[in-house]
Amino acid sequence: MTKPRVLVLYYSQTGQLRNIIDNILLDIKDKLEITYAPIEPVTPFPFPWNPDVFFDAMPETVMHTPPPVKSLPDEIVNAEYDLVIFGHQPWFLNPSMPITAFLQSPSAKVLVNKKVITVIGARNMWLHAQEKIKQYLLKLNATLVGNIALVDTKPNIISTLTVIRWAMKGQKEASGILPDAGVQKADIEKAQRYGMPIYRHLEDNKLESLQQELVLLGAIQLKPGLVLLENTGISNFRKWSKYIAAKGGPGAPERQGRVKQFKNLLIVAIFILSPITSLIAKIREQVKMKKLKDDVAYFKQLKFEEGRL
Ligand SMILES: Cc1cc2nc3c(=O)[nH]c(=O)nc-3n(C[C@H](O)[C@H](O)[C@H](O)COP(=O)(O)O)c2cc1C
Repeated sequence: MTKPRVLVLYYSQTGQLRNIIDNILLDIKDKLEITYAPIEPVTPFPFPWNPDVFFDAMPETVMHTPPPVKSLPDEIVNAEYDLVIFGHQPWFLNPSMPITAFLQSPSAKVLVNKKVITVIGARNMWLHAQEKIKQYLLKLNATLVGNIALVDTKPNIISTLTVIRWAMKGQKEASGILPDAGVQKADIEKAQRYGMPIYRHLEDNKLESLQQELVLLGAIQLKPGLVLLENTGISNFRKWSKYIAAKGGPGAPERQGRVKQFKNLLIVAIFILSPITSLIAKIREQVKMKKLKDDVAYFKQLKFEEGRL
């Protein structure tokens, strides 16, 4: 009996997303013929990040004008697959630059007419990034058949502090009063439970009903308030990206003044305004509960509707 052919296409800077995908595949990897295709920027992004480079990466991430990634080998691009597992992560509320660079590159044709499960490893704000991925997949005539999103479930302010420590110092481990950064280890290990349902739906040729089962297993946990926070964040990032890019391209000395303004504003927004915005979000949450419940249901399924975020 021939094994189903699966392409695992992903980018992972620290290895967290690769680790998540490996756990999802743990129980089924021997039943599949798997090809791994890591997406690699021509010039790797630094890790740990220098703070100036980190904030300078915002405009091109938000505008989807990333630096190039390496092409995939022809034998990978031209092969047939029964399923693609596509791992992506948000940067500044959009797909990370290596992911958008890949989706705009000739190698993206590997996704044409394919069935795709997206796997996300984020801090906690991935909704807008996934909306963008849905649009790229539609253009490639690919069909989204599943989405699994793993997030850091710690309170927003804690996960912000630990992700900054992780990105700027490379330190994932707990220190002082702060816990480990990133998706909790136990949640990464428990991702193993998604493997068998994926395999069964693939074998039975019933991938169109997979997402319902994944959601029942907890593949998407969403706090309604985050929909509101993402909305505010996106419109601000869009304005700031245009304002910064008007002064020059990535790293241009002329734009560093504006990058610093953005960095300072973000720090103020996170640490001073965040408690206030959270409170306002909580109030708006009560007022808009019906709409937000509808949003949560929308983000658990796979269809794309213009203007949701
Ligand atoms: C430049 C940058 C921006 C990020 N922006 C977001 C974001 O907007 N929302 C979010 O939930 N996580 C964000 N993260 C966290 C990443 O999505 C991801 O979880 C983390 O970088 C680890 O992923 P890895 O598998 O690539 O190492 C950001 C990380 C980086 C480096």
